[in-house]
Amino acid sequence: MDAIDILMNEHRHISRILDLLERAVARSREGEDISAVLFERIARFLLTFVEGSHAAKEDELFQAITAQGLPLSQGVLGALSTQHSLGREQAETLRQSAGAVLRSGAEPEEMYVCVEHYVRLLRVHTEVEETRLFPLVRRLLPVDVMERVRAKFARIEAAHGPLDDAVDALELAFPQPLTDARRQPRGGR
Ligand SMILES: [Fe+2]
Ligand SMILES: [Fe+2]
Repeated sequence: MDAIDILMNEHRHISRILDLLERAVARSREGEDISAVLFERIARFLLTFVEGSHAAKEDELFQAITAQGLPLSQGVLGALSTQHSLGREQAETLRQSAGAVLRSGAEPEEMYVCVEHYVRLLRVHTEVEETRLFPLVRRLLPVDVMERVRAKFARIEAAHGPLDDAVDALELAFPQPLTDARRQPRGGR
């Protein structure tokens, strides 16, 4: 796996968390009791793994692109970096709104809206990375530079732990009715 494979693999796992969050909001609005503890736990995951280690890896990649003077639009890199900052802010806002539900008796609707904002941002952001940035990087960044970036990724991961294990643990922590399989009626289709 090269550096881009690692990032795209993490995108797949992050997407599982975005799906989980969306289903949690939909189920909660339908009246299911899903504790704000779980939303707070996901917000901490987002801050540590998505806006922490994943974005830090991508920032290393952005720096390598800039240092190599690749003919990539600085506008794209600038927009992606700004979205990393915005993602951190939104994940922190989600953490705080989950805390307000848990400890101050706040209504959960604000927390659900935070989830919607975050999921929307991250889906657009990820699509831009995968369609506009990564193919060019793979084509234009020299192999030795790619290897150095990958070595930096390993150091970042050592500080945070593996993202996929954290996603598995979060999925297990959520109530069973959130899984699609349990939504399918038996004997149907
Ligand atoms: Fe990113
Ligand atoms: Fe990404």
